[in-house]
Amino acid sequence: MEKIILDCDPGHDDAIAILLAAGNPNIDLLGITTVSGNHNVENTTRNALAVCTAYGVKVPVAKGSPGPMIADQVLAIEIHGETGLDGPVLPPASFDLDKRHAVDFIIETVMAHEPKTVTLVPVGPYTNIGLAIRKEPRIIERVKRVVAMGGAYTRGNITPAAEFNIYADAEAADVMFRANWDVTMIGLDLTQTQALATPDLQNRVRAIGGSISKFVLDIWEFIATTHGGLLQIDYPAIHDACCVAALIDPTIITTEKADIRVETAGRWTRGMTVCNFEKMGGMHHFGGTASEQTDFRHTVAMKLDHPKFCDLIVDSLERLTKQKT
Ligand code: BDR
Ligand code: CA
Repeated sequence: MEKIILDCDPGHDDAIAILLAAGNPNIDLLGITTVSGNHNVENTTRNALAVCTAYGVKVPVAKGSPGPMIADQVLAIEIHGETGLDGPVLPPASFDLDKRHAVDFIIETVMAHEPKTVTLVPVGPYTNIGLAIRKEPRIIERVKRVVAMGGAYTRGNITPAAEFNIYADAEAADVMFRANWDVTMIGLDLTQTQALATPDLQNRVRAIGGSISKFVLDIWEFIATTHGGLLQIDYPAIHDACCVAALIDPTIITTEKADIRVETAGRWTRGMTVCNFEKMGGMHHFGGTASEQTDFRHTVAMKLDHPKFCDLIVDSLERLTKQKT
């Protein structure tokens, strides 16, 4: 059983990550924390609460940072719409927020559990994670691991070089990648080209029937217009759920070891995740000299087993649908 805190900015694919986690018996969802990203934190928090209300997800939801650690705020309204979750119709949220700020929720939850038992799953800008490290650095050795959606080793989606979650708070991402803990980066190279809601997956979700199935189909119907139109992706990308899937079944992704650095100063490359892969045989050195070299302690997701990924999504949605009826 993987104990996780899902730090998110719902967000269409964030909502699917919530449902995948809530519906899988091997995930113990300790809480959901929200952050400004796809929309402002008021909207992402309302969306998280509304999803939990509508589909019976009974976990604490803690509202987090209203903006990046240092940079000006960047939102993804052109992708996720005016509410941050345009398309599906959700009921008003009917339960209260956790009283703690997300940063305190993360720190207190991690410190209250046995060492190396809680995994952080940030799938929005990493502001809450960066602030939590600054406020209580002991979480670094206490956390089991971090499995994050963000970054890319090939090309970005908000700039040619940068992926949105990193670009939106590059300083927080820098803090997160420099911390001495186990980080797996599940970036666009996997999520935007391989984790797609293909017609076959959509048909399987349609066959489930009921309100959860309709919600997910409405998500994909909306996001197909912006992913297809602006980003030219063939089918909706289910970015954030990949992190949860990889925790449920690690064989779902193949990985490589690398040393990842976040570009915070580049004129054209701010927010880029520069990956020095171990497979390069140690040929590349940051700064050009061997003395700049570090260990290859990060993990980068390379390939997704799409059929297994789809099975997990369908399985969670079926379980949640049965629980509801
Ligand atoms: C990431 O940005 C957001 O739009 C998605 O929710 C995902 O977390 C993809 O770049
Ligand atoms: Ca997200």
